[in-house]
This record gives sequence, C-alpha cells and structure tokens, in this order.
Amino acid sequence: MNYLSIKDIDHLASWVDQARKLKSAPMENKALGKGKTLCLLFFNNSLRTRLSTQKAAMNLGIEVMVMNFGSEGWALEYGDGTIMDQGNSEHIKEAARVVTQFCDIVAIRAFATLTHKEKDEAELVLNAFVKYAGIPVLNMESSVGHPLQALADAITIAEQKTKARPKIVLTWAPHPRALPHAVANSFVEMMKLQDVDFVITHPKGYELNPVITMEAKIEYDQEKALRNADFVYVKNWSSYSDYGKILNQDSDWMMTKKKLGPAKLMHCLPVRRNVVVSDDALDSDQSLVIEQANNRTYAAQLVLKKIIEQL
Ligand code: CP
Repeated sequence: MNYLSIKDIDHLASWVDQARKLKSAPMENKALGKGKTLCLLFFNNSLRTRLSTQKAAMNLGIEVMVMNFGSEGWALEYGDGTIMDQGNSEHIKEAARVVTQFCDIVAIRAFATLTHKEKDEAELVLNAFVKYAGIPVLNMESSVGHPLQALADAITIAEQKTKARPKIVLTWAPHPRALPHAVANSFVEMMKLQDVDFVITHPKGYELNPVITMEAKIEYDQEKALRNADFVYVKNWSSYSDYGKILNQDSDWMMTKKKLGPAKLMHCLPVRRNVVVSDDALDSDQSLVIEQANNRTYAAQLVLKKIIEQL
C-alpha cells in the first residue's frame, strides 16, 4: 500500500474515526512495528511533518531513519538513458534501490519546482521512488498534494464541528514568496469527500487546477464567501495558470479576527504573522492551528499502521 494522495483513502469517515481512536490511545499498537524501519527523505525543509511522522512511527514501535536528501544527498538524475556528464551525481534507479535495502517504508517530501508545470504534475521525485523502490511510499508533501496534512485537517474538523453540515471556506491570503498548490489541492480533494458547504475564495488569476476544483464553488468576493462560515482555512498559493507567479500581494486578503467572525481558524503552518493571518486571529481561542499540527501525528500513525498491517 502507498499513501500518495487523498485518492488512497478508501473511506474518509472511517479513516477519521480510526485516527481519533488512535489519538485516544496512541501507544496501544506499540508492538505492531517491531523490527520495521521507516526512512524519511526530505528534499525540502520541515518542522511538523518531520516530527509528527517520527512520533507516529515511534508510537507504533517502528524504527526511523531521517535524511535531509536535498542538502546532504547526491544530486539525483531521473532521466532514462541520460548521459550523466552534468551536475547530477547519482541516478534514482540506484538511489531508490539502495534506500530500500535499509527500510520497509520510505516517506518522501519533494515540493513543486513552480517552474516546470509538467514535471511538477508528473510528480517526478515521488513517482520515481514508487517505480524503483519497490516498497510502500508515503507522501510527506509532493508537487501537487499534501495528503497527510489534509487527513489531519479532516480529523480536526470532525473534532471541532458543531453542526452536521458546516460551512467551510478555503481562502487565499497574500505571501511574499511564491508557494506551491499542494496543501490547497489536497484540502479541496478532502472537502469533496465530505458533506459540507464548501467555498473557495481568491483573487482572479489564483484559480487552482480546474481538474481538482471541478464542481467546487468559487467566490471572488472574500467578504461574501466568509459570511456564516464555521471554519476558515487560510492558505497562500501562487498562480496556477501563470504557473508559479505572484500576481497580487493585496494585504486586504489577510485574515483577521474581525473577518473571521465566530468561525474557527485553520492553517497548516508555518504561517507568516500579520501578512497571511493577523496576530489577533492566531492568538484567539478560535485558532485551531496548533491542534491541526497535533493531529498530524495521528494522521501519519493511521497511515503507517495500515501500511504495516499489509506488509
Ligand atoms: N504543515 C506542514 O507540512 O508543516 P512543515 O512544512 O513544517 O512540515
């Protein structure tokens, strides 16, 4: 079993229930992972994903090896038949098979380049490990998705919702750097698996991949979108149509406590204070951001448990 995208969840409600059970007794399956090893390969920085995935593995008794591949590994070549006389030192064919010798599961973080749309959409790094590693692969945020984050978000919403069909708004917010679409994509996909009143709001030009947002409601007026919201998920992303470009840094789109109204605030973190979300919103008791990060452990623990059970 791989966990590469939200599409690998066969029944979201059941997964959320199972994750909440793990959260109530996290050490109950401590014997399950005995003798198993998880290798975490980071091509990009991380705080939450790194620590929560390690913690999840530890709770299951799995040994963990971590490598900052992006800064410490050899530069990898992915092309078939490439004459490797340029910068890349090692081919993925050898690298993936070597990693496989040391572990039972490999987890990969490899962000979008935001310069090569086709390469990003082909999930070059993630799929190369799937192709050559021959062991289960876990996506710790790839070019187009962050399914562990979205599963943690689903757990958080299930814990916090006070009505059967809450209104959930995904709102774009400004950011000084061009950011990938992965978190927003997986959140949208996860919303489609639930019975919720879901609205996406962003300035014109920031439409996400229409294949992913298909049938989702898009409202360009943020104020209108936020009306009667129960949950507001704030996230920046760069343009998809003008791939990887920043089109707008309009600070009017920043989330504030006033705009939030009585809604709960969600963000995957890290967040730039007073650019993406104001202090008064983040410091309010409406903020769920720390609990979202906490739930990353139980999302990862559930996925690892399911993988181990199938080994
Ligand atoms: N939300 C998230 O994935 O955090 P990190 O980038 O710190 O892992």
